[in-house]
Amino acid sequence: MKIAIDGPAGAGKSTIAQLVAAKLHYVYIDTGAMYRALAWACLHECVPVDDEQAVAGLLSHGQIHLRREQDRQCVLWNERDITAEIRTPEISQYASIVASYGEVRKQMLHLQRALAEQGNVIMDGRDIGTYILPNADVKIFLTASIQERAKRRYLELSAKGVDTTLESLEEEIAERDKRDSEREVAPLKRAEDAHLVDTTGQPIEQVVEQILDICNQTGE
Ligand code: DC
Repeated sequence: MKIAIDGPAGAGKSTIAQLVAAKLHYVYIDTGAMYRALAWACLHECVPVDDEQAVAGLLSHGQIHLRREQDRQCVLWNERDITAEIRTPEISQYASIVASYGEVRKQMLHLQRALAEQGNVIMDGRDIGTYILPNADVKIFLTASIQERAKRRYLELSAKGVDTTLESLEEEIAERDKRDSEREVAPLKRAEDAHLVDTTGQPIEQVVEQILDICNQTGE
């Protein structure tokens, strides 16, 4: 079974997808982490993020690995563990820029479809239900108000010691939502057959239960 979870930044996709994956013993694939890894590589290998050909060239010569280690989801670029380094507001913005390039998305499509062949998977991103796995058995479009999404990011980053403000995160998320939804290639949008789940004001466990119910109904 393939489960696709899409939605805007900060809707809770990765937290919820990981919990659902653990309950169902599925493999979790975080496609946003792959764009983040590419953005990180651009910065560290001095490739200008505004140069589509150069960014696509970097991806074709590099290797992104997603690995589960104990209870941790790890992201590697050419075998270097960059898990913690890709979760900064700067990398978020660059990831959204490199994700707007057709050449990059073409390569990611192949990588992500190959990862989905691992068997039972739950994959989260922006274009999973519409483009990467259009035949997914279950499609969820997860959303929440922008105020709540910014608040969650603020708490998450503050806990990691990242210096930021609620206002700047709200601006950053709004800018990313706009870029991710308005780009020409595979924009963020709800698939027609996706279940809409609004997580505003809902405890995580409740959302997880709701998604498990949807999966059970589909499996019956
Ligand atoms: O889910 P995230 O915040 O880690 O994703 C980082 C960026 O990558 C996001 O702004 C949009 C882009 N992205 C995408 O375009 N398509 C995906 N399937 C996943 C992420």
